[in-house]
Amino acid sequence: MERVLSGIRSTGQLHLGNYFGAVKNFIELQNTHECYFFVANLHALTTHPDPKQLAKSVKTVLAEYIACGIDPNKATLFVQSDVPEISELYTLLNSMAYKGELEKCTSFKEKIKKHHENINAGLLTYPVLMAADILIHRAHKVPVGKDQEQHLEMTRNFAVRFNHRYGVDFFPEPQAFDFSGKLVKVPGLDGSGKMGKSEGAGNAIFLSDDDETIRDKVKAAKTNSGPTEPNSIKSIEIENLFTLMKLVSTPDVVKFYDDKYNDCTIRYGDLKKQLGEDIIKFVQPIREKIVDFENNDALLAEIAQHGAEKARKSAKATLDGVREIMGLTSIWQ
Ligand code: TYM
Repeated sequence: MERVLSGIRSTGQLHLGNYFGAVKNFIELQNTHECYFFVANLHALTTHPDPKQLAKSVKTVLAEYIACGIDPNKATLFVQSDVPEISELYTLLNSMAYKGELEKCTSFKEKIKKHHENINAGLLTYPVLMAADILIHRAHKVPVGKDQEQHLEMTRNFAVRFNHRYGVDFFPEPQAFDFSGKLVKVPGLDGSGKMGKSEGAGNAIFLSDDDETIRDKVKAAKTNSGPTEPNSIKSIEIENLFTLMKLVSTPDVVKFYDDKYNDCTIRYGDLKKQLGEDIIKFVQPIREKIVDFENNDALLAEIAQHGAEKARKSAKATLDGVREIMGLTSIWQ
């Protein structure tokens, strides 16, 4: 059976971008593949989070995974720091990664532009840790959003380099995956591109947002003065609203507003009202489950412990192989 692996950083709550870019695929894949999904808390360390906040965030992401429909009886659900084999593989893979390629990585360049006061080694080697996450289970498919495409390409490079250097066929070449055949980029509400946890306030709709918050955020979304010529090209802000609508509304509703746009009778207030209500309809049942799971510490602990046990078993098998290939099996045995 093909193996699937993916993770989400514990840097806050999940938003619609995380859901439609990643989690939606997880839910489908868990029925047909051997799946490993995890909370990436080691990746969150690069921004120096408050320890208590980080621990709380791990629980939140775990609760949100389950609330979205990840079934811990089907998929192995674990927390990254509970599997120390990942950190060891990260150390071993560091010699497969070159400074030049790490410095050229888009996410590194973006991060150092934003946080020039905190350019740490963890940021530079972030793609190596991510490769360790994936390669430790020798995963084939990695369901992720568009923004992770380059990290997957780097993972393949490290895997191929390892195989080549040691003359083995040990690591498969993992592929970024989305059921639609195209990696998704869910736009934010501020017209600036990607929905993200750390973009400005109002950019992201979180799965835990209440109805009023969703209504207010969508109402405040950027629009423009509306088309004056029939069938004109949509501005980025308007295109973004339609992209969101295609995710949560029925095709009839999307067509209705598209037709209105094309004959210049659209009223953006109506479009945003509809979009807000359709997002609420989508988010509401997930939100209710998040609250239930978030307050059930015993259940979360049981799921994470059981998941870590399973993940460590798979991870140890890979690590034993890597140690042997690299000449690191204990010579004293
Ligand atoms: P993270 O935590 O930023 O995001 C988690 C997942 O959500 C997707 N995503 C989006 N997809 C579409 N549109 C958006 N606006 C959007 N925002 C986020 C991301 O593409 C991702 O799939 N480095 C990773 C976490 C990670 C990982 C891994 C993923 C660590 N190790 C191994 C896969 C395999 C990250 O920071 O994702």
